Amino acid sequence: MGNKNLILAEEIKDSLETEIIGKKVYYYSQVNSTNKIASELAAYGANEGTVVIAERQVSGRGRRGRVWHSSDKGLWFSVILRPEIKISESHFLIINASLAVYYALKSYGIETEIKWPNDILYKNKKVCGILSEMNSSSGNLNYIVTGIGINVNQKKFPDELKDKAVSLYNIQGAKIDKFELLTDILFYFENFYFKFLNGENEKLLEEWKSKISLLGKEIIVKSDGKEYFGKAVDIAKDGRLILLTNKSETKKFWAGDTSIRK
Ligand code: BTN
Repeated sequence: MGNKNLILAEEIKDSLETEIIGKKVYYYSQVNSTNKIASELAAYGANEGTVVIAERQVSGRGRRGRVWHSSDKGLWFSVILRPEIKISESHFLIINASLAVYYALKSYGIETEIKWPNDILYKNKKVCGILSEMNSSSGNLNYIVTGIGINVNQKKFPDELKDKAVSLYNIQGAKIDKFELLTDILFYFENFYFKFLNGENEKLLEEWKSKISLLGKEIIVKSDGKEYFGKAVDIAKDGRLILLTNKSETKKFWAGDTSIRK
């Protein structure tokens, strides 16, 4: 990191109102992927709460091996956490992160929906994506990197994204200070994380479910190269989406691409 980046990292750290998240901040002008850097730092023992943020990512990672378009107009960051939890509870990190983004955006007057499992949508267009990557050995969780990407000040998107993506600038018609937004998100994120560590899983799950746009609707789930049609009836305690298929079978999905049937 250059001097300017070190100064910015310190400024971000000083503006945070958190106890553990952001006690160490790495700020870069350009990286391959903040999730990749954060995973490397975590593998070398970086502390819980370490945050990696970059102006630009040249190989931003999306879900299912996709590329995440990351120009310098967005907010791209990753948080390292080391909760002592069962691997089967790790989806709560996504729940915490999506609730944090939801509430931070709400504080700007922006009402969004959570699209199971981890997208934040504004009027059906994606404003934020979350990618959680964990490392475990012998069945024990070592660390989880939660990467959050928010479209903030983009005026336009490349052709292939323009019907699917939206930025906060597009929504509000004005620029937003990325670092203020980061401060807000991390504040909420830590709050939800502490609730989770405190055993308030059921409450978190209910709160998350209340913001999920798919529930009760006829949907299509694409998973493992297949398409499933049916009604999204609920989210199970373990975070799986419960689909009542057209053949009256109940199917549960850990992940998948969903769309509402028109
Ligand atoms: C998705 O919706 O496909 C998930 C996108 C996650 C993007 C963020 S940007 C910050 C962090 N670093 C990455 O390489 N990916 C995540």
